[in-house]
Amino acid sequence: MNRDSDGLFYAGFEQNALSLGIRLPVKVDFRSVPHLLIVAPSGSGKTHLLTFILGQLARKDGGLILADFKGIDFTALDGCRHYYKHSAVAEALSHVFGILQERMADPQSGRKILFLVIDEWSGFLSLYPKKQEGFKQQLASILMLGRGVGIFVILALQRADAGYLTGRDNFGNCIGLGTLSRESISMTFSDHRDSIIPKGRGKGYLATDGRPLQEIVVPRIRNIKGTMGVICSALDG
Ligand SMILES: Nc1ncnc2c1ncn2[C@@H]1O[C@H](COP(=O)(O)OP(=O)(O)OP(=O)(O)O)[C@@H](O)[C@H]1O
Ligand SMILES: [Mg+2]
Repeated sequence: MNRDSDGLFYAGFEQNALSLGIRLPVKVDFRSVPHLLIVAPSGSGKTHLLTFILGQLARKDGGLILADFKGIDFTALDGCRHYYKHSAVAEALSHVFGILQERMADPQSGRKILFLVIDEWSGFLSLYPKKQEGFKQQLASILMLGRGVGIFVILALQRADAGYLTGRDNFGNCIGLGTLSRESISMTFSDHRDSIIPKGRGKGYLATDGRPLQEIVVPRIRNIKGTMGVICSALDG
């Protein structure tokens, strides 16, 4: 795998081009702008987008870890080694935090890119009122220090809220889908506040630091069974 392209994936198609019949992929490149936050109300397509992205990350020569608090949408991944659900999200976090510490101790060792994907972060945190500060700190460390040692985070939640995200500013890429709350807009798209209008399921915006706002459409996944198989193999790696 070419190191220059191993942090690159697609979030969907550019909406304006699509309305002209042109399928122009919208790229996210973690090697230049790290980490991705996905915000959308329930049913707007967060888990679907995560699945679309996971299918791409799974084909890379890197590590993949999926932490899914709900444990409903990824039942096809039950039993895959690095699929963590319900309370085991805490294990995924400490596993990646441990890898971060190892890599920080030996940053020159040229290790492969590693992706930590977390669905329903706020649901997970709300279950642990006493421990949540510790979890938030671990995430903040991974966000702050991960980039330098090839560890990247994709995190989905229903509402951007300062209570759930210490270190939110470390997400260089933010996607909002559907109809975002005023609070989510001001926390996640503050530079583009006036451009954001309500969208349907699977449609929304990508804000990448230093780039113009992009309108995106997330495509359907044609072969969901095959995609889950590819994801499971990567989670087993
Ligand atoms: N871009 C899309 N194309 C086709 N179907 C989609 C798309 N996005 C979402 N869907 C479908 O819409 C439904 C809701 O999507 P999804 O489960 O991803 O929402 P969510 O934001 O994760 O909701 P929740 O917060 O309740 O978990 C699912 O059945 C999903 O397959
Ligand atoms: Mg979901």
